[in-house]
Amino acid sequence: MSKTAATQSLEASEAQRCLWDLDFGFAVVSLEGDVRFLNHRAEELLEVRAEETIGHPAAELLGLMPDGPLGIGGSVWKKCVLPPTQILSQRGEKELTLECRMVPLGRPSRPDGGLLMFEDASESADEQQFQRNIDRFSSVGNLSAVMAHEIRNPLTGIRTTIQFVQTKLPKASPLKQDLEDAIKELDRIEQFTTDLLQFARPKISGLQEANINDIAEKVLTHVAKRAEEQGVQIKGELGDDLPLIPLDQAAVQQALLNIVINALDVMPDGGLLRVSSSSRRYRSRRAVEVAVADTGTGISEEVIEKIYDPFFTTRGSGGTGLGLSIALQIVKEHGGRIHVRNRPQGGAIFRLSFRLPEENDGAGS
Ligand SMILES: Nc1ncnc2c1ncn2[C@@H]1O[C@H](COP(=O)(O)OP(=O)(O)OP(=O)(O)O)[C@@H](O)[C@H]1O
Ligand SMILES: [Mg+2]
Repeated sequence: MSKTAATQSLEASEAQRCLWDLDFGFAVVSLEGDVRFLNHRAEELLEVRAEETIGHPAAELLGLMPDGPLGIGGSVWKKCVLPPTQILSQRGEKELTLECRMVPLGRPSRPDGGLLMFEDASESADEQQFQRNIDRFSSVGNLSAVMAHEIRNPLTGIRTTIQFVQTKLPKASPLKQDLEDAIKELDRIEQFTTDLLQFARPKISGLQEANINDIAEKVLTHVAKRAEEQGVQIKGELGDDLPLIPLDQAAVQQALLNIVINALDVMPDGGLLRVSSSSRRYRSRRAVEVAVADTGTGISEEVIEKIYDPFFTTRGSGGTGLGLSIALQIVKEHGGRIHVRNRPQGGAIFRLSFRLPEENDGAGS
């Protein structure tokens, strides 16, 4: 090669550095589907170190189902062709929707391997589901607020009257207990209207920079006794150096608590409650995520469609069906997102994700 040509073309190491720096996941794979090169964004997305992946099956690395054309040794790897396709990548608790495509390396008729490109598409996939959930209940919100007010107003009068009558009864009157019971029922209605109002008009105020870990720890402390009584082991896997996010701490604590309580509800005879936190970079933004995983019953497809609907409950008279509606509202008011999936190993996992303000992008890990 002449000197001019050499200076005009890229040095091999420079070309490699360009591939390394590409802002989407990039891998070179062999015809067997083994990794030969992985760039930095791929490392970040898959949470691996490139040098440790060389020679390993890309399908395994991407967390793909073993069967089918994209499984280990599948036909896609042999042909090295994959039109843009969304795939669900599941590796342990980690889950991503990846937008993947592959083009052959070398001659298309006799490729030497493939160039695999992928990016996190979870944001748009999850977004559609989230919007559907919001649409489902936005109309119910206003009605709920009116109902809550209308129920609540006469309650105060009823309570005062009962308490007045109580003072008029002789000390030993058996009616006293009946009135006590009536007051307990009133407490229940009052709690219900409080929930209803919180659902209809979530009060988000006083946003303050907070570490999601502090909130998670408070929630776990709050439920520690109940978990122990049920034989549920709690495991906190809270990430280090998470960026701070502006939150109404009391409200987010409530949202997370509702989700953790649900997890305990489905593990009456013990199990494992895992609460983890991490920061994550999507294509267009960074976010802090907190996930609650249980080893309970999981959620059937039919139920999963409705679980954020106000008053939807499978717990009979034990639940009002507002816990998740409230959680969804609170997270939405923070510009955040909430998603649920069944875990491949059983149980369900809820993820709450809060976007970082622009100026903080790039902060933290
Ligand atoms: N971790 C979970 N595993 C399985 N099912 C769940 C889980 N979390 C929620 N669900 C389902 O979603 C339904 C709605 O939950 P939500 O918290 O809104 O109401 P609830 O728990 O029934 O009542 P409450 O208003 O007292 O919270 C539950 O009844 C249950 O069927
Ligand atoms: Mg609940």
